Amino acid sequence: MSTPLICIEHVSKSYRRGREEVPVLYDIHFDIAQGEYLALMGPSGSGKSTLLNLIAGLDQPNAGSIIIDQVDISQLGDAALADWRAANIGFIFQFYNLMPVLTALENVELPLQLTHLSRRERRERALAALALVNLSDRVKHYPAELSGGQLQRVAIARAIVSDPTVIVADEPTGDLDRKSGEEVLSLLDRLNRELGKTIVMVTHDQHAANAARAVRHLEKGELSGLVENRTWNTATNV
Ligand SMILES: Nc1ncnc2c1ncn2[C@@H]1O[C@H](COP(=O)(O)OP(=O)(O)O)[C@@H](O)[C@H]1O
Ligand SMILES: [Mg+2]
Repeated sequence: MSTPLICIEHVSKSYRRGREEVPVLYDIHFDIAQGEYLALMGPSGSGKSTLLNLIAGLDQPNAGSIIIDQVDISQLGDAALADWRAANIGFIFQFYNLMPVLTALENVELPLQLTHLSRRERRERALAALALVNLSDRVKHYPAELSGGQLQRVAIARAIVSDPTVIVADEPTGDLDRKSGEEVLSLLDRLNRELGKTIVMVTHDQHAANAARAVRHLEKGELSGLVENRTWNTATNV
């Protein structure tokens, strides 16, 4: 738990809107330990998604660097960054981002298309990931034939199928009812505790944040100190 996996070093980010430069993150500096399960909280517009996208290598900072597993991803070009993402990051989004024309199984297999695995190995891994999220009976279903909770579980299977180092989740329970949200939180908990995945979850839901090991708050582009969740170790279920 003590070795930093992710080092965010004096990162600033602004967006250009016409001739105007809109600052979003100011001098963000913190580490995320290997095996951490961190919730990033903050009001809408505070820069949570921006920070998460930088950690996930979906966007680049204007200043500072982001070092993940000893790779400075802020120095990578577009193609190298895309390869790095495919190998290291699993994404979970609020609105699932599944391909509507593909079945659950095909959606989960998609990230493996970029690997050297055989067709058969890809299929086996995708089936195993769907089994882990309890959807073995829905592999041939299309997104339109699944509930919100099931869609998010397919998305979780897709996020873990390539065995990434880090899982990033942006409001993963934001579109779900309470029961489906609990299922998603309990799956994230298992990925962290049983598979040792490092998780960074953006949420503005206090209940979801309580499921994480630790919380940081983002307010107007500035980050607060780490608050450990004292009930985490004893929690048997979330
Ligand atoms: N691609 C973009 N272009 C311009 N401004 C953006 C872009 N993405 C986000 N912003 C602005 O950055 C700020 C933070 O956005 P975001 O990171 O999405 O916040 P949060 O996820 O906390 O709601 C907002 O003011 C938003 O309008
Ligand atoms: Mg957001």
